[in-house]
Amino acid sequence: TKPQILVARKIFPATIAYLEQHFEVESNQDDASWTKAELIARLQGKVGAFTTGSERIDAELLAACPGLRICANMAVGYNNFDVDAMSAAGVLATNAPDVLTETTADFGFALLMATARRVCESEHFLRAGLWKKWSYDMFAGAEVHGSTLGIIGMGRIGQGIAKRGAFGFGMNVVYHNRSQLDAATEAECKARFVSKEELLKTADHVVLVVPYSAASHHTIGAAELALMQPTATLVNIARGGIVDDAALAAALREGRIAAAGLDVFEGEPKVHPDLLTVPNVVLTPHIASATVATRTAMARLAADNLVGFLIKNKALTPINAAQVASK
Ligand code: GLV
Ligand code: GLV
Repeated sequence: TKPQILVARKIFPATIAYLEQHFEVESNQDDASWTKAELIARLQGKVGAFTTGSERIDAELLAACPGLRICANMAVGYNNFDVDAMSAAGVLATNAPDVLTETTADFGFALLMATARRVCESEHFLRAGLWKKWSYDMFAGAEVHGSTLGIIGMGRIGQGIAKRGAFGFGMNVVYHNRSQLDAATEAECKARFVSKEELLKTADHVVLVVPYSAASHHTIGAAELALMQPTATLVNIARGGIVDDAALAAALREGRIAAAGLDVFEGEPKVHPDLLTVPNVVLTPHIASATVATRTAMARLAADNLVGFLIKNKALTPINAAQVASK
């Protein structure tokens, strides 16, 4: 008999068909919003779970699901996993890196440009029938080409954004990261390492691509916003909680920075009500990796992690393989 797995959210039918070649699959193709108790109930008898960023895998759940051996996340970020608790329980965690890097970098740039050039604000104005005549300063925004781009979080996606800025738009690229990149990678990205403070003070456009953790919580709060130039823009494609959304809404309303582009939010899918009422912010519903090709590749990679680990004893992109192996 085939091993049993749970697919916790609705996913491509082709992904289900692929998984069914190897497993007995229970899947949430109705995309119901399961409570934790329901998720635990569905996981009984399952050795693997296909998860998305929305399922919290913690010590309580793991204790209630002793047969579980792997959770494969269809996301590069995995702050929905308590990895220490998973390691302690001998449960492998996998994520879906690399296949989304360039697509997500594209979207970071899309949001940067929409924000700097006031694309959404001006579109709303036009749709509202307010465009009566040309005006010299109508929706005059911030320059993108030749400006200074500051990237906080210089992983693969951050590097992709740096290359787009440096080589596509002649931007002066500075970055801040937990550790400085090696000289060859810096040269490849044409990016210079600076302190977070210098970055915030000098960048015309700040883009956040740092993974969420207790240490990166509110990387940008009132104090950091106060360092930025009043003409600067801020883009968050990382995770909700990296930015203090209430502080950002206040800074936008008071014109302490020019504009922001946000794809992720604290407590999403809820959005801080103050962000919904300020005009100089572009808001998108966590879609940075959302192209058909990339979401297909992410689903396949998550599925291949389940097949790799449960059938061939080797996951493709494990997070805690060494910890689980030593259990
Ligand atoms: C999306 O946010 C991801 O982590 O892949
Ligand atoms: C994050 O993991 C990234 O690839 O930037």
